Amino acid sequence: MKAAVYYETGAPDVFRYEDVPDPELFPGGVVVRVEAISIEGGDTLNRAGGMLQTTPHIVGYQCAGTIEAVADDVTDRHVGQQVVATMMWGSHAELVAVPAVVTWPVPDGADLTAVACVPIAFGTADDCLFEFGHLQPGETVLIQAGAGGVGVAAIQLAKRAGATVLATASSEARLAPLHELGLDHGIDYTRDDWIAEVRRIAGGQGVDLAVDSVGGRVLKGSVQCLRYRGRAITVGSAGRDPEPFDVALLSMGNHSLTGVFLGAEIINERTREMIGRHIDDVAAGRLRVLVDREFSLAEAAAAHAYVESRRAIGRVVLHP
Ligand SMILES: NC(=O)c1ccc[n+]([C@@H]2O[C@H](COP(=O)([O-])OP(=O)(O)OC[C@H]3O[C@@H](n4cnc5c(N)ncnc54)[C@H](OP(=O)(O)O)[C@@H]3O)[C@@H](O)[C@H]2O)c1
Repeated sequence: MKAAVYYETGAPDVFRYEDVPDPELFPGGVVVRVEAISIEGGDTLNRAGGMLQTTPHIVGYQCAGTIEAVADDVTDRHVGQQVVATMMWGSHAELVAVPAVVTWPVPDGADLTAVACVPIAFGTADDCLFEFGHLQPGETVLIQAGAGGVGVAAIQLAKRAGATVLATASSEARLAPLHELGLDHGIDYTRDDWIAEVRRIAGGQGVDLAVDSVGGRVLKGSVQCLRYRGRAITVGSAGRDPEPFDVALLSMGNHSLTGVFLGAEIINERTREMIGRHIDDVAAGRLRVLVDREFSLAEAAAAHAYVESRRAIGRVVLHP
């Protein structure tokens, strides 16, 4: 099969578009012919400097396509069935072998490209807001990097739950399209006074919950935006900022900081069911995926460069 691979991490031009051996079917697994690859924030971070678990490495956490082979012990999937799949790596290829437990059937009539973008972004956003963030109706939530994949999902889920939704982005232009998803107040966090601005919008008290996928100095700011007893969630390091977090920041306001990793939840029944609901909602138009640009898999380097230019709003998708 063809795949976008790399032999070393670095800038997007480390990608090579090469022939590699087809993946092998394993017990409990299915082989999927990939049709749409959602470039996840973790994909660009791995390519830039993550672990190379295979050589050459095929990056990628998520895709959608059609099942081509099913292991004998898998009874609830069949050849020809369209699924969305998550994996630890391997989406940037024509074929991928995955455990059946991390596949979700694509609802009839659904837009395959849109549903290819759902599980990680919406699953992560849901867990950050509710399972670990304990968001309640009437509360105020700050979503950092609202124009990213997780951000676009979190804005919609928070609004639907009856929260007042604040989100940040690196320009006013990136915030504008988020209002029709439910954003109440957008803040450009490249401004020096963005923390004061969040606190002012939140009635001077600060927000109840901050969901932070950026890390570094932005994570420090997330905690500084909290009200007394406010909660912050750390879920990513999209900002590539190595500044460590100082836990002393938490005690004055009786704040809490919780780490979230969807990968530790994804095979439990609660999470699988929750992600299935979000796939159904996107398929039915009750939730939206924003697909900014689509590239061919052979153009993986250009697609990753576009994501890292911070011009994409929502997802960038590859097609083999
Ligand atoms: N723990 C988990 O289970 C989990 C699950 C999913 C994702 N994540 C992590 O969460 C983060 C976001 O994921 P995502 O899929 O939403 O990513 P994404 O779609 O690529 O969006 C990332 C956003 O981060 C912002 N950003 C800030 N500084 C940046 C920089 N230096 N370079 C690039 N973007 C920068 C950008 O918005 P602005 O330009 O507007 O700032 C961009 O929209 C990633 O670190 C990912 O690994 C973790």
